[in-house]
Amino acid sequence: MGNLKHSATGTFGILTAGGDCPGLNAAIRGVCRAAYDRYGMNIVGIANGYRGLIEENWRSLRPVDVYGILTRGGTILGASREKPFKVKKGESDSEIELDKVAAIKENYKKLGLDCLVVLGGNGTNTTGYLLSQEGLNVLGLPKTIDNDIVGTDRTFGFHSALAIGTEAIDRLHSTAQSHSRVIVIELMGHKAGWLALYAGVAGGGDVILIPEIPYDIAVIARHLEKRAGEGKTFSIVAVAEGALSVEEAAMDKKDRKKYREETGFPSIGYRVAREIEEETGMETRATVLGYVQRGGIPTASDRVLATSLGTAAADLLAQGEYGKMVALAGDSIKPVDLSVPAGKVKTVPPDHYMLDTALAVGTCLGY
Ligand code: F6P
Repeated sequence: MGNLKHSATGTFGILTAGGDCPGLNAAIRGVCRAAYDRYGMNIVGIANGYRGLIEENWRSLRPVDVYGILTRGGTILGASREKPFKVKKGESDSEIELDKVAAIKENYKKLGLDCLVVLGGNGTNTTGYLLSQEGLNVLGLPKTIDNDIVGTDRTFGFHSALAIGTEAIDRLHSTAQSHSRVIVIELMGHKAGWLALYAGVAGGGDVILIPEIPYDIAVIARHLEKRAGEGKTFSIVAVAEGALSVEEAAMDKKDRKKYREETGFPSIGYRVAREIEEETGMETRATVLGYVQRGGIPTASDRVLATSLGTAAADLLAQGEYGKMVALAGDSIKPVDLSVPAGKVKTVPPDHYMLDTALAVGTCLGY
């Protein structure tokens, strides 16, 4: 057992917040196993993200509680999208939120925590940063299928969702080919198109639409017609849920919302399918993957990443190095300041090599 270099109580809290994803349990196990076995720490598992810390919903996590969870999807701790610092629309006074932050601070103290380890995406790490500004010791771990956290080369969950998205595209190929159809597949990613771009390339998508590149439906239609003219009887279109047209990109947020309400499609995938059918006359269908892409067991790659980030977090806890997000940088695990991911989204840059890769194999990116 290693020595605790810095610790008042040797106790830390751990929570998972935001959307669930494969690899969360592997990360919890990684933190806990190293914290128990190397450093003899005590661990408090907070239920349902930050909400558990507000509602006093927690339990002691013993070694036996993390046995056998490496391969399990979801999170044994439960998750929520509770954002304690968020001021609700139209609320001039943010008393409720201040109460939530106060409750978190009080319960952190009551539990005698040395540090709070938060596993989550942009929102979770931003809240972690804000809590660290309030005087709490916080460590963040980057999880999300969206892969959109600034400060890390990759997030855990992304690789598993990519595998699911790719398999879905492979399967849709069968129907598209058999029925000579265009099939639109909608993947998650509101602000960042990593998942749609990577799954689209991995699955050989003919068109890939991401939020970073507004699409022109006429360009897409001509591309699909050209394919048809070359004797290619079917096409696959991979669309990120946050994709938008050039017309929408020119609108402000309010007008865009209104436009979407008026057009009345449940999501962008259905709208793109309709637009393609209207522009080309080709029979077109839409498939929305939804939560399927967040569920189930993590890939080997995500298990390894989540475990490495988790055990590195335990080392930081032992060293008393707080206010960091444990990140992947090349072949190394490196802590970055929590201010690095806070309030940001890592989108696909216009010069990213994957965009050129897609273009080089004849994929249309919508412009
Ligand atoms: O944060 C991951 C994510 O999967 C996004 O891509 C998606 O927009 C969002 O979660 C939807 O999750 P929920 O319906 O749970 O809010």
